[in-house]
Amino acid sequence: MNTHTLDIKALWKWEEDELDDLSNILKQDHENIIPSKLIVNNMNKNTNNNLIGEYRYINHGGCSCIFINDSNQTPIILKLIYSEEIYNREVEFQHKAGEFSPNILYNTRLEKLENEYILLDEEMLEYWKGNHNVNYKIKGLCVLGNSPINIIIMEYLNVSIWKSLLYMEIHAHELNNEIKKTLINMVHSLVYDKNIYNIFDFVGYTGEHIFYNKNVNKFKIIDYGGFKTVKNNQDKDILVKQMLENIYDKYEILKLIKSKKKLKSGDILLKSNNMYLGLKNSTVKAKFKNSI
Ligand SMILES: Nc1ncnc2c1ncn2[C@@H]1O[C@H](COP(=O)(O)OP(=O)(O)O)[C@@H](O)[C@H]1O
Ligand SMILES: [Mg+2]
Repeated sequence: MNTHTLDIKALWKWEEDELDDLSNILKQDHENIIPSKLIVNNMNKNTNNNLIGEYRYINHGGCSCIFINDSNQTPIILKLIYSEEIYNREVEFQHKAGEFSPNILYNTRLEKLENEYILLDEEMLEYWKGNHNVNYKIKGLCVLGNSPINIIIMEYLNVSIWKSLLYMEIHAHELNNEIKKTLINMVHSLVYDKNIYNIFDFVGYTGEHIFYNKNVNKFKIIDYGGFKTVKNNQDKDILVKQMLENIYDKYEILKLIKSKKKLKSGDILLKSNNMYLGLKNSTVKAKFKNSI
């Protein structure tokens, strides 16, 4: 629940060195443009000041755009999601994932993203050889045809600290036992403790989803659009195995092999460079790349 209200607008503002970007925008259909900046203000004072400021576009996934506010000491991420259905699922499951997910700082659905535009001055307009129509066009810009949009503001997994699985694959020699155990443990815990799973895009296909921070020895997952609740009649062991196999399908850092060992569910055993994970009805051996 949001305890405060934020005023979020599309910020149509260009610096002199960004006029080429504006040129491209003016060539597009004005109804379907993603703004390069968003501006977030407080509606009522004395609320979380970290959230306010300018957010700039940095990335996009399959069904969203990602913006960052790095004007404060702790940078934060704003995810703009087109579909209400996906947004609802993401908020629900990102909360359910608890310590495995970036903290949600604020989330809201807006009937439309209002505009805040800064019109160009005479000097800037000369870039278009005196085309005064440009300011008129800027006034007409809107996001997604003014249809409703959804926003999640969350903790930023700083790329200099949080390393993706792609990075881990390239640096497979750095995969020590602690990291391997943490990864396997997280997958087990998502299914068995948090009661959620993702066998759709757990590893991410339009961008990375799983990140590791060696300073705190933790993995965190982003993008909860593909998560579901484990149902009573579902076999948790199969879900854990499928999620671990999803990792292998993309990164080949760990391979699952059947094992005759018998461990308690959730127990992890390291033996001659192999890792064994106890599930409810079986035990699996996870062979990692640097030991294959
Ligand atoms: N909280 C975050 N911290 C750091 N990077 C993020 C964060 N959220 C998204 N990203 C970056 O943006 C990309 C797309 O985000 P994602 O949530 O996967 O979008 P989509 O749901 O559209 O696939 C990610 O692969 C990642 O690189
Ligand atoms: Mg994604």
